[in-house]
Amino acid sequence: MTSMRKAVAAAAGMTLLFGALTACSSERAGSESGGGETGGGDTPLIGIAMPTRSLERWNNDGAHLEELLGDAGYETTLQYADNKVDQQITQLQNMINQGADVLVIASIDGTALGPVLDAAAKEEIPVIAYDRLINDSEHVDYYATFDNEKVGTLQGEFIAEQLGLAGGAGPFNLEPFAGSPDDNNARFFFKGAWDVLTPYVESGQLVVPSGKAPATVDDWTTIGIQGWESAKAQSEMENRLNSFYTDKKVNVVLSPNDSLALGIEQALEGSGYAAGEGWPLVTGQDADEANVKNMLAGKQAMTVWKDTRTLGDQVAKMVQQIVDGEEVEVNDTETYDNGVKVVPSFLLDPQVVTADTVQTTLVDSGFYTADKLGL
Ligand code: BGC
Repeated sequence: MTSMRKAVAAAAGMTLLFGALTACSSERAGSESGGGETGGGDTPLIGIAMPTRSLERWNNDGAHLEELLGDAGYETTLQYADNKVDQQITQLQNMINQGADVLVIASIDGTALGPVLDAAAKEEIPVIAYDRLINDSEHVDYYATFDNEKVGTLQGEFIAEQLGLAGGAGPFNLEPFAGSPDDNNARFFFKGAWDVLTPYVESGQLVVPSGKAPATVDDWTTIGIQGWESAKAQSEMENRLNSFYTDKKVNVVLSPNDSLALGIEQALEGSGYAAGEGWPLVTGQDADEANVKNMLAGKQAMTVWKDTRTLGDQVAKMVQQIVDGEEVEVNDTETYDNGVKVVPSFLLDPQVVTADTVQTTLVDSGFYTADKLGL
């Protein structure tokens, strides 16, 4: 164990830009039991901490990673924390106590894990931040995620393109939403979209009747929906519709993800909007099943799909490289400053899906069966 921990610590200090790595490390994933370097012959234990079961994506993420690491010969402990920060901290402490060799963490509050990561560091346990960056701690060794700002850029560009904003069209009534204020990703999503849309808000082509247009990107938390909850997004949208839309229609809603979009779509339905008859353009992210069905029904214009299988694959590869004491493959060493250090990251590419491309993207890749989507 100790020798592996030393190898791990050495590996955690090294980074390598994508492309420079030889093929051998990826081929090794799945070989032996991953336990060859432990000295004691014991199987490494990988702790996987996920935020909540209430969102489809985290169930998929956890199950996929558990399966991959299991197939590669690791022991795993997968824990969900019901979006409760204290519960996640307790789960992480338990993983440390159980002798975890690597921790993979999708945090709930990216700023709340400092002390438990200090405890992990004392045991020389490397930490991979999964999907969400962990802030204000030097004990975050790697970060694997989709390019979060690009998610927002894709949403903003989709809106601009569909409405013909570059050609001067408008004015359109826009209602913007942002994600959970405690999730570091939410700022990136909003920034990506708002950088694209701000010029059109300034030119008057996009009008925000509710007034809920943050003055700057840094004010994004003023429109954040705590815990990414559908119900909260629904009641916020209902309030906006009841207060500001008695004599007008909303044309476009910037929703950062699918759980918010779902609540927003319910509010629209409740206040009399009908698909195909002036239903506004609503954006999303994650390609959750309910939202894909809503896209097919004309109630959501797009979703940004992050194939969580590829994220799991990448993280399993990182785990293997760490355990083998190899250099860990990353492709970004500049973007993700967690307040204490720039965390070496591997960024994957998100992709726009619309009703027209559900088959060629989500179904052809096996993410969903046609049956499941009612196709
Ligand atoms: C993830 C999104 C997800 C959201 C809510 C974000 O950190 O990147 O994919 O929709 O959390 O769970």
